[in-house]
Amino acid sequence: MKRAKLTIIGAGNVGASCAFWAATKELGDIVLIDIPDFADKTAGKALDLAQCGPIDRFDSCITGTSDYQQAKDSDVVIITAGLPRKPGMSRDDLIEKNVSIVGSVAEQISKVAPNAVLIVVSNPLDAMVYTAWKKSGFPTNRVVGQAGCLDIARYRTFIAMELGCSVEDITALLMGGHGDDMVPLPRYTSVSGIPVTQLIPAEKLDAIIQRAKMGGGELVKLMGTSAYYAPAAGSVQMAEAIIKDKKRILPCAAFCKEEYGVGGHFVGVPAMLGAGGVEKIFEVQLDENERKLLDTSVAHVKELVQIASGFMG
Ligand code: NAI
Ligand code: 2OP
Repeated sequence: MKRAKLTIIGAGNVGASCAFWAATKELGDIVLIDIPDFADKTAGKALDLAQCGPIDRFDSCITGTSDYQQAKDSDVVIITAGLPRKPGMSRDDLIEKNVSIVGSVAEQISKVAPNAVLIVVSNPLDAMVYTAWKKSGFPTNRVVGQAGCLDIARYRTFIAMELGCSVEDITALLMGGHGDDMVPLPRYTSVSGIPVTQLIPAEKLDAIIQRAKMGGGELVKLMGTSAYYAPAAGSVQMAEAIIKDKKRILPCAAFCKEEYGVGGHFVGVPAMLGAGGVEKIFEVQLDENERKLLDTSVAHVKELVQIASGFMG
């Protein structure tokens, strides 16, 4: 059987961590690409990772390069290229530089891997997914953004910390853009089937939701740069669902037209991921308040896309 091929663009903190997780999960052969100035460093990271194989028992072939030809016929491409946040910056502050980086990456990938599914990670996420879609010319089902898998993991972690229970038993739903106005939904959050609202008092739950929404900023303050382990784990969770055609239902930045009345933008919604990329979007019932929160978040996504479009040329 042919091994899957996963290319990761940007071999920095998130990209290299993605390569590590993908290798340990034996998702296939891995190509790590960064700019020519970092070609040696990228080759070194790939070699260092490959040498984990005998210890961690994986057989992925890992290549580090600046040559896009190495990405030829990739099944999945994770785009992490771009500037990360520094203290005092919002994700939105990265837009001008990252539109140009992500746009050029998407154009190059579309030439060498025209059938790939793109998972975009670079920030500001929702506008970068849109940029990658426009510049790749790929159909909407083959372009998707990673944010929800991370944001929901933060939310689930904080709930488990509060209850002192296993994170595995927490299932939750989170929608909207990857900004501080993302929308965790306590009505759709449960702990082994028990509604979380029966286990955590409203005030505490509100504080958890607030912490999850600001989770990226909390880590930037602590680390001086943006998070990478959990973002990479979330990205690889999506890649695995696609490569193994698992039909997982995950919160993804997926293209919504009629869905939720979005009108043609990528926003965080529950979506089924399989070999075809985004295979289905689920529309859940929202009450008036939830709807209002989602509309606010979607309005922010649209503003960002408008700014990004101005830089796209
Ligand atoms: P980093 O600075 O460690 O790595 C970025 C890498 O991209 C660098 O090695 C850089 O040389 C490379 N790069 C720049 N231009 C490139 C190009 N044209 N082609 C190939 N590589 C290129 O940054 P980090 O921490 O890995 O973050 C990467 C991006 O991911 C940032 O935009 C960050 O904000 C975003 N991010 C998104 C998250 C999400 O949940 N969507 C979570 C965490 C980070
Ligand atoms: C995060 O949420 C900065 O998007 C990045 O950690």
